Amino acid sequence: MNTPLDPSSILQTAFGFWHSKVLLTAVEMGLFTKLAKHHRTGAELGAELGLHPRGIADFFDSLVAMKFLGREGEGVTSKYFNTPEGLHFLDETSPRYIGGILVMLNARLFKFWNDLPEALRTGKPQNEIKHGQKGMFEELYSDLPRLEQFMGAMTGISRVNFEVFAEKFDFSKYQTLCDVGGATGLLSIESAKKHSHLKCISFDLPPVESIAKKHIVAAGLEDRITTASGDFFKDSLPKADIITMGMILHDWNLEKKMHLIRLAYDALPPGGAFVAIEALIDDARRENVQGLMMSLNMLIEFGDAFDYSGADFRQWCSEVGFTRFEVIHLAGPSSAVVAYK
Ligand SMILES: C[S@@+](CC[C@H](N)C(=O)[O-])C[C@H]1O[C@@H](n2cnc3c(N)ncnc32)[C@H](O)[C@@H]1O
Repeated sequence: MNTPLDPSSILQTAFGFWHSKVLLTAVEMGLFTKLAKHHRTGAELGAELGLHPRGIADFFDSLVAMKFLGREGEGVTSKYFNTPEGLHFLDETSPRYIGGILVMLNARLFKFWNDLPEALRTGKPQNEIKHGQKGMFEELYSDLPRLEQFMGAMTGISRVNFEVFAEKFDFSKYQTLCDVGGATGLLSIESAKKHSHLKCISFDLPPVESIAKKHIVAAGLEDRITTASGDFFKDSLPKADIITMGMILHDWNLEKKMHLIRLAYDALPPGGAFVAIEALIDDARRENVQGLMMSLNMLIEFGDAFDYSGADFRQWCSEVGFTRFEVIHLAGPSSAVVAYK
């Protein structure tokens, strides 16, 4: 007998935006931060968040059913509390907070993805730059709160990857690292924390420098991490034994990707390592859903930008002169792909 066909995965994905919006709303409201110290009844929590009584139990119990909150007891006297993951990653005061990416998903990408059909038909971006003349970073960085929101989002999406990279990559042969498009300096901070011999430079556009400096000082690493400001389409890169680019190549079209790969090659000594960290698409383009959708997100954000596979990276880097390659799996859908000069 044939097994009956099951439509549940179709329906689960179709309704996925309900799940997403409930979690993103909870983060935007600071729910996990409010619950950090005390367990709360629905009424207490609802009052603190300024919620109408109608939705309270449905909202919090949906989060319980999705395993993003715990609840002790039943009914109106029951109390909600954070799961260990909620406490660790979604309480704003936690040193491993990653909620910044959820805040940006809610504030920007949720609505821009509504225009995916238009992006697919036109090949044009659907974000803030849709009706203007400015480039994506120029537009985002013209408004300080939005720049800070973007920096928080980068921390959220990259933190765990950079922690694993600092652990797995063999730094023993190298003395210096330059992280290109280093944002808050997080990759340099995580690498320098784990490898006491390493000196790092976090290179980014001028508006980002003061934010990076603040984070480097907060980590107490200003003696081993410096910042450098520049535009990688106009300036050369600081020389270093390792050049890293976390989610940089995927922001650009092929011509600009090749420019960046050549720039990295020129900044490295023989034997130096060029590392790209991305939600690297599997070579057959069948498995890494997040990597493939990240590439669709690049269509929404930039138009002609796209994500790529390890095989693509290897081909581009070989053309520039790199000779040896390696893929290091990091967290979830992300990998570091390394080209040695
Ligand atoms: C997608 S973010 C990645 C941030 C960080 N590397 C990570 O993986 O979390 C891209 C970064 O590239 C920087 N950037 C964009 N255009 C640049 C340019 N022309 N020159 C230098 N940095 C640039 C941005 O300011 C931003 O910090």
